[in-house]
Amino acid sequence: MKILMYSIYAFDKPFIENATHGKLEIEYTNQALNEDTAKLAEGFEGISLFTPDNASDSVLEKLYFYGVRYIALRSVGYDYVDLKKARALGIKVANVPSYSPYSVAEHAVTLLLALNRKIILGQKLMQMGDYRLDHLVGFDLYGKTVGIIGTGKIGAAFAKIMHGFGCQILACDPQENEELIQQIDISYTTLEDVCKNSDVISVHCPLNRETKYMFNKSNFSLMKRGVIFINTARGTIINTEDLIDALKMGNIGAAGLDVYEKEKTIFFGNHINKKLEDHLYTILRSFPNVLITGHQGFLTNEALEGIAQTTIVNFNAWAYNGLSENELK
Ligand code: NAI
Repeated sequence: MKILMYSIYAFDKPFIENATHGKLEIEYTNQALNEDTAKLAEGFEGISLFTPDNASDSVLEKLYFYGVRYIALRSVGYDYVDLKKARALGIKVANVPSYSPYSVAEHAVTLLLALNRKIILGQKLMQMGDYRLDHLVGFDLYGKTVGIIGTGKIGAAFAKIMHGFGCQILACDPQENEELIQQIDISYTTLEDVCKNSDVISVHCPLNRETKYMFNKSNFSLMKRGVIFINTARGTIINTEDLIDALKMGNIGAAGLDVYEKEKTIFFGNHINKKLEDHLYTILRSFPNVLITGHQGFLTNEALEGIAQTTIVNFNAWAYNGLSENELK
């Protein structure tokens, strides 16, 4: 099977190359899939995609025309693929349903700790020779309430770490995690309760029709003043304009974001010497109490290895018997 991998970077290519390729003949491009780059897939039966790509309705039609029948995503999330359209065209799509959940959970904790203890500001001041501590006061996480939205694989890993810090864990998820309930002290409640009672809120649910703009001015206004808000899931779960207003009013004490709703035009690229045209992003970046990382939650050796292995397994399953167990229905 001939495969084209879109959005391949220096950080993930070696892991793909090291996986056992079996029947696969793989080519790579660092370009993201969109209306203009769909043509690159001509002559390839399979393509592999990542979050910067956009497999919309019209792009999928082009891919089908060029002969693409299999798409393996190098991600858990599949919000950048129009699955309904793929199904209608008979294009099979599979994801990587799980890889090190610790990678993203630990990144969420990193954002939380850096914000609470003002690590970035402290470092900047120190580099300028200012060793005063006046701007660097944080709070003990021990004994505080941490609200978790989505206690699947990543949310559960995050919950266990925060439980280890001595935090009270509140959670909101339509599907309670029975295994997690056996392992730690955790209380499930409504989104409203989580918003009202948490000192820290961390988002770990998928982006879908129900969760789009799930965080907006109505629930930002319920939150405890000074709450630390962390999002490592998907940018569009948050209404960015409302988040900016909540930050301006001081309702939100600090925000740690690994994702942003319009990240596709910014993240994973080099914008040195370019003016960023995204006004909202520029405002967001200007807050001293907002820490943004460019969708790097997954960026550990263990996660990259897991993503590469499962992606190759998915393609080989299709190449050998036409069926992959990770196909999205
Ligand atoms: P998972 O499928 O194991 O868990 C998701 C949980 O969210 C499930 O328990 C589900 O019931 C819950 N959920 C669904 N709708 C909800 C709602 N309306 N309110 C509250 N909970 C809800 O997925 P996993 O592996 O934990 O990943 C979670 C998300 O993290 C992914 O969908 C993806 O968007 C994001 N992610 C981000 C990465 C990064 O690098 N920043 C890397 C990998 C995933």
